[in-house]
Amino acid sequence: MTTPLPEPSTGLDPAAAAEWDARYAGPQRIWSGEPNGALVAEAADLAPGTALDVGCGEGADTVWLAARGWRVSALDVSRVALERAGEHARGAGVQVRWLHAGLLDADLPPAGFDLVAALYPALRRTGPGDEAAERALLAATAVGGTLLVVHHADVDTHHARDAGFDPADYVSPDDVARLLDDDWAVQVHERRARRVASGAGAHHTADVVLRARRLR
Ligand SMILES: C[S@@+](CC[C@H](N)C(=O)[O-])C[C@H]1O[C@@H](n2cnc3c(N)ncnc32)[C@H](O)[C@@H]1O
Repeated sequence: MTTPLPEPSTGLDPAAAAEWDARYAGPQRIWSGEPNGALVAEAADLAPGTALDVGCGEGADTVWLAARGWRVSALDVSRVALERAGEHARGAGVQVRWLHAGLLDADLPPAGFDLVAALYPALRRTGPGDEAAERALLAATAVGGTLLVVHHADVDTHHARDAGFDPADYVSPDDVARLLDDDWAVQVHERRARRVASGAGAHHTADVVLRARRLR
């Protein structure tokens, strides 16, 4: 049974959606199915409220948050990923608001989320002076809320380029950290070991983790 999904947002980038749908097209899930270690560590001391999972993929983090009482909105450009995430959520018996959208074309409430989590979200950089994706992450975070951005550390650039992408094209936690002004308290900004036993990301052994609280 497929999961009912909302209509795609009108601004959804069809090329990005097709590219990611193709990556998720196989019969097996591609990620581990386990919640992200940095999310588990950083969200453990937060009181559940509203959460946004940016680029939720197959939904392991979404489901983990929802099972802990968070009211989660989860967005992704890939319909295939969202269908798989929906199956995971249904199996776990949790409710999630799914958004078939990219971060920039999703109709998100300003300052609408007590937690904005972006875990390896594949957001394209738009360069100095614009930084659209980074600013969208900041704008979605409620006053008093937490922004968590995690990405791989020590990416082998040559290997990545051989695989068809350049890590420099994508938003990193450091890019987001550069935009944090006095309205924010940086609580964590560090390189951290990660251990993932299975899935396409298992060869990555370190993350960069940024956690910041929005003060005003
Ligand atoms: C590397 S995967 C990470 C998935 C998930 N967060 C996880 O950690 O397992 C990147 C995800 O970002 C999604 N994505 C790509 N472009 C996006 C965009 N502009 N806005 C939101 N999600 C996007 C992809 O479809 C994919 O599911």
